[in-house]
Amino acid sequence: MKFFVDTADVAEIKELAATGLVDGVTTNPSLVAKTGRDFFEVLREICDIVDGPISAEVAATDYDTMLAEGRALSKLADHIAVKVPLTPDGLKACKALTSEGIMVNVTLCFSAAQAILAAKAGASFVSPFVGRIDDVGSDGMALIADIVEIYAGYLDFETEILVASVRHPMHVVDAAKMGADIVTIPPGVLRAMFNHPLTDKGLAAFLADWKKTGQSILDR
Ligand code: E4P
Repeated sequence: MKFFVDTADVAEIKELAATGLVDGVTTNPSLVAKTGRDFFEVLREICDIVDGPISAEVAATDYDTMLAEGRALSKLADHIAVKVPLTPDGLKACKALTSEGIMVNVTLCFSAAQAILAAKAGASFVSPFVGRIDDVGSDGMALIADIVEIYAGYLDFETEILVASVRHPMHVVDAAKMGADIVTIPPGVLRAMFNHPLTDKGLAAFLADWKKTGQSILDR
């Protein structure tokens, strides 16, 4: 299972990438707006930090402009994945960009039917938004289970399932149980995954006992 980080905050990405656990990054217009920085400058910096796919979203909604924007973004680096919305024009742009060898992440997926269309359009990634589905009183992870089941039946579907809109560590655990390919995780959720009170308690006890031995591992 691959971990992407869901942020446009370069300092956060640098810190989390240093753990060796980060396989890619996803951004969206809201995350970029939050930084208050120039989009291309931010993307260049992220591409220098992380080798894996870096999602960069188009801002247009019509096919021709999406295509032009996608091409412009992809020129930044080979590992840019152009993010397009799951609309008829977005999927048309997905097909065209994919045929040019550009990775495409189809975003704003909220149904299994939409995920089938993304795979048919040759997307490298489809992003179902589990948290936003939960937010409206439905079951986001049930959608992931459906997509995993459907894609498993078609070997010609090469689209990876990128679980997005993650809100807590259990979304990651459930995605892993279901066999989703990737989860894009907000920095706070990734940090929360490290934590367990018994780890802290156990470590404190081991350290206290080790101190009693008066030994040093390095002093040999
Ligand atoms: C990532 O690709 C998505 O844009 C992101 O996960 C959406 O998350 P949100 O629902 O918390 O905004």
